[in-house]
Formats: sequence, structure tokens, C-alpha cells
Amino acid sequence: MTTSSWAVRRLHAVDDAHIDGLTRVLIDCVEGGASVSFMQPLSRERAVTFWRRVAHGVAAGERALLVAEDGQGLCGTVQLVFDLPENQPHRADLAKMLVHRRARRQGLGAALMRAAEATARDCGKTLLVLDAVTGGDAARLYERLGWTRVGDIPGYALMPQGGLCSTTVYYRNL
Ligand SMILES: CC(C)(COP(=O)(O)OP(=O)(O)OC[C@H]1O[C@@H](n2cnc3c(N)ncnc32)[C@H](O)[C@@H]1OP(=O)(O)O)[C@@H](O)C(=O)NCCC(=O)NCCS
Repeated sequence: MTTSSWAVRRLHAVDDAHIDGLTRVLIDCVEGGASVSFMQPLSRERAVTFWRRVAHGVAAGERALLVAEDGQGLCGTVQLVFDLPENQPHRADLAKMLVHRRARRQGLGAALMRAAEATARDCGKTLLVLDAVTGGDAARLYERLGWTRVGDIPGYALMPQGGLCSTTVYYRNL
């Protein structure tokens, strides 16, 4: 068993150091072949722009941002998106679940999911929705944690190096 030495927390304000750490994690995941909205190669500039938008969303209360840090800095993150239509105040989308390759397979993905679910409950949410590449590492994680599989959408997105992949939609009642 690997000894885990990270801590997970919610960021209520996002500074430049956080943006830098989040950028490193996102670039590492895309370089590692994760289908998380971006194509390879993901430039630092584009990744920073993405996280600055997220930071604005956090400041506006439109999303919750959780991060995990280890001895080397930021090593994982996940978001809850609250900015949804007014007829869906009870739910959130779970998005951008990312663990740096150096910190994988130690239980951090599961810890981030549990922290995100607890945060959603604290915010009064009763339903979470997400999607993940069909049959991938993330899909396995969500199924292990008890999320309900809704179904697959073939040819939903491109993998970062090209080539279409299917996505699977999941939900969880809290
Ligand atoms: C999907 C992802 C978040 C999982 O993160 P993780 O930290 O590796 O997740 P966990 O450690 O909780 O679980 C991963 C595996 O490690 C195993 N594991 C957990 N703790 C372990 C330990 N202490 N020792 C050995 N194995 C362990 C789990 O059983 C699981 O095994 P499996 O993949 O064979 O089912 C990560 O792979 C990732 O960031 N991928 C790229 C980005 C991505 O695709 N995000 C999803 C968008 S929907």
C-alpha cells in the first residue's frame, strides 16, 4: 500500500499560486491522454486562461473548487458547477476531476469525490450529475463509489491526441 500524504480542501478564493498549480495539474493530465475538454498540446497560456475563468466563477459563487496538495504542491482538483438553470436549484454538475500522474492510485480520486459530495450536501444540493469517457479510469472510480450509470453517448468528444470517444453519463442522489 502507498502511504498517502495529501490534504483536500475547498478554495473560496483563488490566487496566482493556485492558478499555477492547477495549470500544472491540467497540463499533466492532458499530456497523459485524459479527455478533459482540451486537445494536445495544451499551452500554459490556454490552461491559465481556463483557470482564471474558473477563479471568476468561484468568486461569483457559481462553482465550488476543491484542491488536494502534497509535499510538491497542488496535485488534484475537482469542481461543482452551481451555475445552472433556475429550475434546477437542487443539483450541481461535477466537473474537471483531475489528479496529477504523480499522485494517482493512492485513493486521492476517491477522496476528492467524497469531499465534493460532502461540499454539495453542505450547499443544500441533493443531486449530482457528471460524464466520463466510457470504460476509462474515471468511469471505474465513479462506479466503485456507487454512482448510477445512465447510459453512453457514442462519439461524444475527441481524445486529446485525436479520435472520437464515447462518454457515459452518471448521477448520484445525495
Ligand atoms: C480518474 C482519476 C481522477 C483517478 O484518480 P486516482 O487518484 O488515481 O483515483 P484512486 O486512487 O481513488 O483510484 C484509482 C485506482 O487506484 C486504486 N487504489 C486506490 N488506493 C490505492 C492504494 N493505496 N494502493 C494501490 N491502489 C490503490 C483504486 O482501487 C483504483 O483502481 P482501479 O483503477 O483498478 O479501479 C485520475 O486517473 C485522473 O486524473 N485521470 C485523468 C483525468 C480524468 O480523466 N479525469 C476524469 C474526468 S471525468
